[in-house]
Amino acid sequence: MAYLAPSILSADFSELKRQISLIEKGKADYIHVDVMDGAFVPNITFGAPVMKSLLGKTKLPFDVHLMIENPEQRVADFVTENTEFITFHYEATNHSHRLIQQIKSLGVKAGVAINPATPIWMLEDILTDVDMILIMSVNPGFGGQKFIPVAMDKIAELNQVRFEADLNYLIEVDGGVNEKNAAQLVELGTDIIVAGSAIFGAEDITAKTKEFKKLIK
Ligand code: DX5
Ligand code: ZN
Repeated sequence: MAYLAPSILSADFSELKRQISLIEKGKADYIHVDVMDGAFVPNITFGAPVMKSLLGKTKLPFDVHLMIENPEQRVADFVTENTEFITFHYEATNHSHRLIQQIKSLGVKAGVAINPATPIWMLEDILTDVDMILIMSVNPGFGGQKFIPVAMDKIAELNQVRFEADLNYLIEVDGGVNEKNAAQLVELGTDIIVAGSAIFGAEDITAKTKEFKKLIK
């Protein structure tokens, strides 16, 4: 069983509130919030004010994915009553360990994301500290890209390490997830499935959300 976190990156921003009500009806578990700064990744999305405009309008918890440089300077902006996870990129800081403690001290769960080119052994010394590991299965920056298969090996290995070392981190996968690969990703050990274009690009967003929920049950 896994949770579903539709990414609003692929939503129609001109009617964000309504689109979120559609995934709520489909029983999505989280709202995946993709924050891009045009520096860490070659695209700019939105910042904390847009995310905060949803407060009081949805009960869904926020799963914040920061694709930004200097994340330590920004994490506090994303702490709200809806925020459950704040995930930063391992590649964007020299001080992953400190940043994990900083995020936790703000009362939210701390996630670390790695790009397709970053091996999971880089995370070895923070595995006991982190609440979630986000495996990027595309190069971050855009929705609608093709799934990069090496992510499957990383998920399987993280799942095994978690079992062998009796650790508790969650595993999330993000990028190129669709109806064809979602179930396999859960089988390999994924706990949270992110899907952007596959859900918000659908004609019936609620029906598509339900379909994904069934697939990852
Ligand atoms: C990519 C973002 C993803 C993106 C996924 O940089 O982090 O969350 O929205 O979109 P799809 O599911 O379309 O690949
Ligand atoms: Zn994301």
